[in-house]
Amino acid sequence: MNNDLVRFSVAMPEDLLMDFDAFAARRGVAKNRSEVIRDLVRDALNEEAVAFPGVKVVGTLTVTFDHHTPGLQEKLDDFQHDFFENIISTMHVHLDQHRCLEVIVLKGDSYDIRDIADSIIGTKGVTNGKLVLTTVE
Ligand code: NI
Repeated sequence: MNNDLVRFSVAMPEDLLMDFDAFAARRGVAKNRSEVIRDLVRDALNEEAVAFPGVKVVGTLTVTFDHHTPGLQEKLDDFQHDFFENIISTMHVHLDQHRCLEVIVLKGDSYDIRDIADSIIGTKGVTNGKLVLTTVE
């Protein structure tokens, strides 16, 4: 694989370019247009790669829930024991008197990981859930 930088030109409407420059500026002064475009392309390629079943992935599932929901904490623990080969770590944060946040680290086949994440997010009492994956290879 050749990592030499190659220049190419991109045409886009001026309004879109202005919005893009503002977006790039929000990413910090250290990022120029080229670097921000490279980040976006890598993100898009990663999104596509992790969408295929059979791809080895690693990632995090972040969920929030009310720990007073009957049986919920036990159900979340059961998931983690049932899928101990895929769920490799969990961080639990008590947000306030009622609400909890868990960051669950998963690895394995992309299809299995999505299935486990959907089951956890779909559990009654889970108020919010977001899965972020990246390829291992
Ligand atoms: Ni808690």
